[in-house]
Amino acid sequence: MEETIFVSGGRKLFGSVDVDASKNAFLPILAGCILCDQQVCLKNYVHISDLDLMRQILAKLGVASSLSGRELVLDMANLENNKLSHTLTQRLRASIFLLGPILARFRSAVVAYPGGCNIGLRPIDIHIKSFKALGAKIIEKHGYLYCNGENLKSGEVTLDFASVGATESLMMCCTLLKGQSVLKNVAKEPEIVDLQNFLRKMGAKVSGAGSDTIVIEGVEKLHGCEFSVMPDRIVAGTYLLAAATCGGDVEICGALEQHNESLLSFLRQSACNMVVERDRIRVKVDKRLPSIEKLQTLPYPHFPTDLQSQMLVLQCVCDGTCVLKENLFENRFGVVPELIKMGANIVLNSNTAIVKGVEKLFGADVFATDLRAGAALVVAGLKAEGYTTIHNPAHIDRGYERLEEKFASLGADIKRSKI
Ligand code: EPZ
Repeated sequence: MEETIFVSGGRKLFGSVDVDASKNAFLPILAGCILCDQQVCLKNYVHISDLDLMRQILAKLGVASSLSGRELVLDMANLENNKLSHTLTQRLRASIFLLGPILARFRSAVVAYPGGCNIGLRPIDIHIKSFKALGAKIIEKHGYLYCNGENLKSGEVTLDFASVGATESLMMCCTLLKGQSVLKNVAKEPEIVDLQNFLRKMGAKVSGAGSDTIVIEGVEKLHGCEFSVMPDRIVAGTYLLAAATCGGDVEICGALEQHNESLLSFLRQSACNMVVERDRIRVKVDKRLPSIEKLQTLPYPHFPTDLQSQMLVLQCVCDGTCVLKENLFENRFGVVPELIKMGANIVLNSNTAIVKGVEKLFGADVFATDLRAGAALVVAGLKAEGYTTIHNPAHIDRGYERLEEKFASLGADIKRSKI
C-alpha cells in the first residue's frame, strides 16, 4: 500500500493556522544537548520525521529521551558512544551537526558521511577544513570521517563559505574548548541565533550569532536547561505563499516579520495585501498577482533557498514572466517537471528557471522529489483545477507536521490515504 495525498483544487483559503517550532533550529539544538551530561527539556517538539530520526541517532550515542505531547526530555547521563554509522546518518544531513558536539565531549569521533534531501552533492569540506584549522586530525576513508581531536584548541577560523551546518557544528564544539574562539564568515540565519540562545541557557559564553562573526569563550562544563525552539520561518513562508497562490484570507500565527523580511518585501512588490503584526501575519488576496520579474536565492537575510520551490508555484500562476535563479544548491528544481505536468510554463537553463505565468494549472499525478518540492506540489494542487495526486508524501513529512490537515483547516479539499 502506498500513501498519497489527494487534492481537489481551485478553492481559496480562509482561516487561521499556527506555525510549529523550526525543524532547522530544532536539529542543531538536539545535537547541542550532548554537550552536557544532565537533562534538557525542549518544550515544543514537532512530530516530523527528521526530528524523530535525530532522536534515534542520539539514542545510538546513549541519550535517553521521552516525549509527552510536545514536551521532550533528553537525558545525557549515559552518553557513551562517539561513533555514528551510515545506517542512520545516510538519511539525515543534520547528522553531521553532531561532529562538533561529539568532538567537544569525547575529543574523538567516527562519523559516516551524511545523507539528506537529493538537492545537490552537499559536500562537507568546509566542516572538515574548519575542524582541522582548530587542530583536529581527520582522515576520510570508505565514507567515514575518523577524527582525532586530542589537539583541538580554541582559535580563529574563517569559513570559505557561510555554511549553516558548519557554523552550528563549530559553534557548539568551541563552547567546551578552553580560551577564546572567533568564527568568521559564518552563516547569519535566525536558527543560528536560536542555537546561541539555547547554548547560553546551558551556560555557554557565545555572542555574535546573526552577524558574520561569532565569539565563544570556552567553559569547563555545560548544564541542562529548559528551552522552547523558535517558530519555523520556512513553514510560515510556505503558508504565506500558499495564501498568495490560492487567494483568500489567511492569518499565520507565529510568523515573525524579521524572519521573513525578504519574502514579505517580494509579496509587497506583488501588491499582496498583508497585515503584519509582531507574531502573526494576515494575507488577503482576491486577484491574480503580477509576476516578480527577477528573483534569486541567497543566504540569509536574502530570499531563502528553502522557499524557492514554493515561490516557483506562485510565479507559475502570476501575470507576467519571472526569472528565478537558485544559487545555493545545484539540483533544487526537482519540482519543475512535475509542475509542467500540471500545465506550468517553465524553461530551465542551468540554475535559472524562466516562468511564464499561466491562467490555470490542472490536476495531475505528481511525485515529490524532496521536502520543499513536495510542499510546493501540495500548494500547486490546492490551486489547480481538478484532482491532483501527490506521491511520496514521506518527503513532506520530514519537515511539515500533518500539512494536509493544516490546509484542510483552511477550507482545502485535501486528504491523505493509502492506495
Ligand atoms: C541547512 O543545510 C538547512 N538544513 C537547509 O535546509 C538549507 O537549505 C541550507 O542550510 C541553506 O540555508 C538544516 O538546517 C538541517 P549549508 P546545510 O551548509 O547546513 C555548500 C530544508 O529544506 N557546502 O549552508 O547543509 C552546500 O553544498 C533544508 O530544510 C559546501 O560546499 O546547508 C550548499 O551549496 C534543505 N561544503 C551551500 O554550501 C560544506 O562543507 C549551503 O550549504 C557545506 C556546505
